[in-house]
Amino acid sequence: MFPFKIRQSLLLLEKRDRRRLVVIVLAQAFLSFLDLIGIALIGAIGALTINGVQSKSSTGLLAEFTNFVGIANLTYQGQVVILGLVSSVVLIGKTLLSIYFTRRILRFLSNKGALISTKLVKSLFSQPITYVQKQSSQETLFALTQGVMNITLGVLGSLATLFTDFALLLVLCLGLFIVDPLVALSTIALFSGIGLLLYRVLHQRALELGILQTELHISSNQKIFELVKGYREILVKDRVNFYGNEISKLRFSLSETLADSSFLPYIGKYVIETSVLIGGLTIGAVQFAISDAVSAVSTLSIFLAAGMRIAPAVLRMQQGAISLKSYIGTADRTLELAEQLQFTSDETAAVRNLSEDSPKFEYPDFKSNIKFQDVNFSYPNSNRIAIADLSFEVKEGEFIAIVGDSGAGKSTIADLMLGIISPDSGEIKVSGVSPDAAIKSWPGAIAYVPQDPLVIEGSLRENITLGYGQNSISVERVERALKVSKLETLIESLDNGLDTLVGESGWGISGGQKQRLGIARAMYSNPKLLVLDEATSALDATTESDISASINTLKGRVTIVMIAHRLSIVRDANKIVYMENGKMIGVGSFEELRLRIDKFDKQARLMGL
Ligand SMILES: Nc1ncnc2c1ncn2[C@@H]1O[C@H](COP(=O)(O)OP(=O)(O)OP(=O)(O)O)[C@@H](O)[C@H]1O
Ligand SMILES: [Mg+2]
Repeated sequence: MFPFKIRQSLLLLEKRDRRRLVVIVLAQAFLSFLDLIGIALIGAIGALTINGVQSKSSTGLLAEFTNFVGIANLTYQGQVVILGLVSSVVLIGKTLLSIYFTRRILRFLSNKGALISTKLVKSLFSQPITYVQKQSSQETLFALTQGVMNITLGVLGSLATLFTDFALLLVLCLGLFIVDPLVALSTIALFSGIGLLLYRVLHQRALELGILQTELHISSNQKIFELVKGYREILVKDRVNFYGNEISKLRFSLSETLADSSFLPYIGKYVIETSVLIGGLTIGAVQFAISDAVSAVSTLSIFLAAGMRIAPAVLRMQQGAISLKSYIGTADRTLELAEQLQFTSDETAAVRNLSEDSPKFEYPDFKSNIKFQDVNFSYPNSNRIAIADLSFEVKEGEFIAIVGDSGAGKSTIADLMLGIISPDSGEIKVSGVSPDAAIKSWPGAIAYVPQDPLVIEGSLRENITLGYGQNSISVERVERALKVSKLETLIESLDNGLDTLVGESGWGISGGQKQRLGIARAMYSNPKLLVLDEATSALDATTESDISASINTLKGRVTIVMIAHRLSIVRDANKIVYMENGKMIGVGSFEELRLRIDKFDKQARLMGL
């Protein structure tokens, strides 16, 4: 399961990027040889120094080496100075190169993170709405942002460090083995023993902490989000304190787990630091006892020099392995999402579309007719049929209304018509093709107004032109949209007009103004098919009838599908579809339906019609 997740994480990168990552990581791993050279030189310096003190001439490997590099004729001091200089240059050079490569790897991975987030967003929002809405928004948010970064910088970053440090250890141990097998074996035994022990003790805890952190993070954000959204309802019942306590509990648990996982690496640090000291002393003492001072000092200098590099590497490896575990714990949400989306990185190549799109808002070939033929639909999580055997047709320029009790299936029809959900059986055609094909072929030709339109943080202009770049805005179209939605007088009365700022949850704008904003937004793209779902329910009778009149003027040019509870507004419709429990029980003009459906007649009478 563990290696499987690493594999999954790697597969989020494009093939080309995986190759690039391997190349940088290998390059960094090769730097280990510089370490080896530096350390070997320090060992030679140690031996030369002792030889100098004891006035002995160099023998064996050391003599061969000094001869080979041509410094054998110099004094011991001269040899030590030269080797000291060279080893400093090599070790400093390696450090600098390592810094450079580490930075490159981290930047590379975080850029890839941004790319993967973008692709996941695109991939997720090309799914049916039933799928998108299955997860809570906080979960989705986490999976698309933090979760991705935890995979790239966290999982893959730790993996890269693990690999380079492992290479370093391997090279150092190999070098050490050539110089002194006994020291090598004891060093390897010491550090690998400690590294493994620490890993065994700490890794499970790290994974648990990672998983716990993600859960706490998401739930505390969720609670804060609920409080922001439901502020009025919560305030009125004086339950703000309850939320305060809930949030506080979650935040405290989160901070505890954060402290715990920040503390884990320190355990390793202290253990390994101590082991270097004790290990060095032991190895030096053993060498001194079984051999002489020269080998004791040179062994000790090699061990300490190697230890200087080995200990941090073991430390990083052990910490890397632990972070890897905890990052994997936090990456789950993202990996699951990627798996469900069958996200393959290589498929979507052109993510950054740099050319600014300039929509024309003209739809010469679009025919705004609609056809439902024997349509059936059930929501995936329910066994009730939401729409049963529905057939009807709407001709170009017609005004059709859909009415019926709450839960009758009206919004479901709108979603089917807009391609937001797809029928289980039967056929839906808009302009002769499926709704999603129509949207793709004539973007902007179809517009939709929900009951509770989204208000974004920004100016009224930005809200009306939602989804279009601000430098391609047409003033003329904004004005036309304001006219249809009866927002003109309101905008004129504002000091800042269209530049007036409004807020995310409808701050600074009333319920009815929000609905009119939704209508203006829909009208901005000059649609040929306008679907309104209870879009005027919050309006006063006068404004509603004004809007109804201006929508009526669109009749003939724009096909209008209006879902409404208030029957006054659908009176002028060419056709009314009457829905009950997912079935169409009547279709016809207002007067025809009154004669045919008692319930409809009664409702009309109740409304004084
Ligand atoms: N996402 C969903 N998952 C499962 N069932 C759903 C979902 N959305 C709607 N339903 C169910 O489908 C049926 C039709 O819902 P729909 O929203 O179309 O009704 P409606 O006619 O628009 O009602 P209202 O007038 O209250 O808006 C209802 O029984 C509802 O519970
Ligand atoms: Mg509805």
